Amino acid sequence: MARKIVITGGKGGVGKTTVCANLGIALAHRSKRVLLIDLDMGLNNLDVAMQVEDKVVFDLVDVVENRCRPSQAFIQDVLEPTLYVMPSCHLAKRQVTAEQIKRVVSRVDENFDFVLVDCPAGIDGGFRRAVACADEAIVVVTPHLSSVRDADKTISELIADTVVSVVVNRVRGDLVASGEMLSAFEVFSLLGQNALGVLPESDDVNCNVRSRSAAFDILADNLVTGKCELYDCVSHYKGVLGRFRRKMKRNNV
Ligand SMILES: Nc1ncnc2c1ncn2[C@@H]1O[C@H](COP(=O)(O)OP(=O)(O)OP(=O)(O)O)[C@@H](O)[C@H]1O
Ligand SMILES: [Mg+2]
Repeated sequence: MARKIVITGGKGGVGKTTVCANLGIALAHRSKRVLLIDLDMGLNNLDVAMQVEDKVVFDLVDVVENRCRPSQAFIQDVLEPTLYVMPSCHLAKRQVTAEQIKRVVSRVDENFDFVLVDCPAGIDGGFRRAVACADEAIVVVTPHLSSVRDADKTISELIADTVVSVVVNRVRGDLVASGEMLSAFEVFSLLGQNALGVLPESDDVNCNVRSRSAAFDILADNLVTGKCELYDCVSHYKGVLGRFRRKMKRNNV
């Protein structure tokens, strides 16, 4: 049976879809069988992030409404043969219930090691529907107080017994080193939950959501092994040379 993990975070734009896509890629790269399900109905874009938008024939709502079998809605990744995406539909938002989604997930989860669910922003009905079909939650948060507050509210809204872990995304090592940004460790301690990963602010990710990197590899290893190694965004910007690098970054050199 698959580990079913919802990627959530409360605040919009913190990187939930980015983490879902790249964590899925990194897990599949480790020969894990992975299904990514887009439950951000209405503003679904996991298919765009995974670059399979033009291959969508059936979606989750077609499965729920029995127009096709679950496997007919799977889109296999071009580069990772054990990775599949089940896209969502921007219509029929209200008719789909958490129970229906849970039924779909339970029909397919024997075929996968991981089912990652991309959750919408907020803590309303769409959030509840997404968290209902998972046993674990990865809360994605950026090192800004508003995001930390929203992540905290999200954690308090999760179903009891959900295993919660936190990924701090968009960390700027230069700003952490100069004391202008919360460090990932401060965020973990504010939220009081298990640390799962640290992801740096990255131009590669900004230009192309689908982007393999060492930080996502470490995150995937942590998820598989239960270890907690964290990507170091900061040491590059410490010491005399680090101060020089910070100055260069600030001046856009
Ligand atoms: N580590 C990063 N470095 C640079 N850009 C990032 C990083 N993480 C995410 N982004 C960018 O931030 C934007 C929002 O990311 P994403 O769509 O994953 O957020 P989201 O939480 O899923 O948003 P929504 O709440 O709207 O679903 C994207 O353009 C993405 O490329
Ligand atoms: Mg998203």
